[in-house]
Amino acid sequence: MVRKIVKLGDEVLRKQSKPMQKFDLRLWLLLRDMAETMYKAEGVGLAAPQVGILRRVVVIDIGEGLVELVNPEIIAVEGEQAGPEGCLSVPGRQGYVVRPNKVTVRAQDRNGKHFELTGEGFMARALCHEIDHLDGVIYVDKMDHEIFADDEDEEE
Ligand code: CO
Repeated sequence: MVRKIVKLGDEVLRKQSKPMQKFDLRLWLLLRDMAETMYKAEGVGLAAPQVGILRRVVVIDIGEGLVELVNPEIIAVEGEQAGPEGCLSVPGRQGYVVRPNKVTVRAQDRNGKHFELTGEGFMARALCHEIDHLDGVIYVDKMDHEIFADDEDEEE
């Protein structure tokens, strides 16, 4: 089921999400709905607060397959990258955000099993962006500047 995506300005996006403790059908349905919602909106990532659920659950697909993260935590970062970033909760806007270039995350899968995942480049950016949502942080809080559609010669 495709769920409604909460937009910037809604209080729920600013709240702290709680850890997921039960790895049951309720979680699996949430993961399924989040993936459907993300694909329908043509996004590359979605965090549970964006569908109004204050739980530490994230889905990401940057074109390399669906990644489900439950209770994700960033355990290591390396390097730096600066680039454009958008958000399904901030439609029609983009901003320039500095992020680590390489990120290692520890998370649980849909059955509660722990695993580690390392992402570089765009994947590192997606991981940081989505995990920020779980703490009520949106990229606009961190962006260096807004990118406007008519900025043809946007430079770093
Ligand atoms: Co977002």
